Amino acid sequence: MPEILVLNGPNLNLLGEREPEIYGRTTLADIEEMCTDAAAEAGLTTRCIQSNHEGGLIDAVHEARHSTVGAIINAGAYTHTSLALHDALKSYDHPIIEVHLSNPHAREAVRHHSFLSPVASAVIAGAGAKGYVHAVEILIDLTLNTKARL
Ligand code: DQA
Repeated sequence: MPEILVLNGPNLNLLGEREPEIYGRTTLADIEEMCTDAAAEAGLTTRCIQSNHEGGLIDAVHEARHSTVGAIINAGAYTHTSLALHDALKSYDHPIIEVHLSNPHAREAVRHHSFLSPVASAVIAGAGAKGYVHAVEILIDLTLNTKARL
């Protein structure tokens, strides 16, 4: 079955405990399960990876280059700092959906720029944990239903 990469960056392993007023109470395990269930409805499987390290995220993108059909990525704070992750994603020849639980544009100015957005097919921000499910749905449209793009 075709596989999608669900990649989460630094501190997202603490979801549910970390600043719940901003990020909600849903845990990363819950989010990964939501993604897996949504993907399964379209006959896709998920590869869920979380890393607190920039290089770990880059390695995960490289490893997924030839074995996945699309990627959902919340790079956490690396979104706003990592040209290296931008470059890695540029080498990934499948649709990429950038996700944020919060809306970085409504927060501090340092969060307004994203190194990922220029290489993403879509960006979902501020929809909480459900944003990941929307991201899976968009990936399904982009990878399986080519007509959805018209
Ligand atoms: C985040 C937003 C980032 O600015 C922040 O550093 C995170 C989480 C989000 O999901 O809202 O760690 O990516």
